[in-house]
Amino acid sequence: MFKLKKIVSVFLLMGCTGAALSVSAADKVAGEQLSANCVGCHGQKGQSSNGQWPNLAAQPVLYLVNQLNAFKSGQRNNPVMQAMASNLTDENITNLAVYYSGLPAVSSGGDQTLAKLGKDKSAMCLGCHGGAGEGNGQFPRLAGQQPDYLLSQLISFKLGARKSGPMQMMVKNISEEDMKSLAAYLGSIK
Ligand code: HEC
Ligand code: HEC
Repeated sequence: MFKLKKIVSVFLLMGCTGAALSVSAADKVAGEQLSANCVGCHGQKGQSSNGQWPNLAAQPVLYLVNQLNAFKSGQRNNPVMQAMASNLTDENITNLAVYYSGLPAVSSGGDQTLAKLGKDKSAMCLGCHGGAGEGNGQFPRLAGQQPDYLLSQLISFKLGARKSGPMQMMVKNISEEDMKSLAAYLGSIK
């Protein structure tokens, strides 16, 4: 049996704590096998077709690892994902993150009129989320993400249901109308 096992060694900075996460022997093939449990919602190749479920393709490895751990510990509260993540070992999480991160980015489209309005407001987001919204390290890719999902997360930060110091600060002064146009713009780029 042909088995491709790629040994990669990646050192990722863990936010501002300075602790290093070593991802050694990350196995994309093992990640792809595990992803059979995820495709029902997150789609083939991490491309979702439903605004309830985020695309996972091309998200930074560290962001994916952080979120899966946050669901597992309950720090990010979502019963469905908590159930999914509770069965995953650290190794499973790393392999899934490396697999999804390596998939090509997709664009979800979005209302074009709203997207034009959102474009003008997006500069304040791209300092952290990458110049093209591509994400980096702990900062998620926003480009191409499902607009309805982006909007739901922005509302969730505003309500404090999803915790993140920087994002809770950011959304404080953003109206729901602006959130909609930002989500439409970010979802339409790739
Ligand atoms: C039954 C549907 C379902 C299945 C199966 C599922 N997920 Fe999810 N996933 C969700 C939903 C819904 C969310 C959004 C949760 C929220 O709103 O906070 C989500 C969010 C996520 C996120 C956060 C994405 C982001 O941009 O922050 C990651 C990472 C994730 N899922 C990974 C996985 C992996 C890996 C698997 C398979 C082991 C999986 N999911 C299986 C429904 C599912
Ligand atoms: C100071 C840095 C910073 C700025 C500026 C910023 N963000 Fe974020 N954002 C973050 C971090 C960090 C996270 C990840 C939070 C976590 O780990 O749960 C995040 C997460 C998000 C998420 C969740 C994505 C997902 O896949 O679940 C959305 C949506 C988002 N940001 C939108 C925006 C928008 C829109 C703006 C501009 C109005 C913005 N951000 C500005 C730091 C920032």
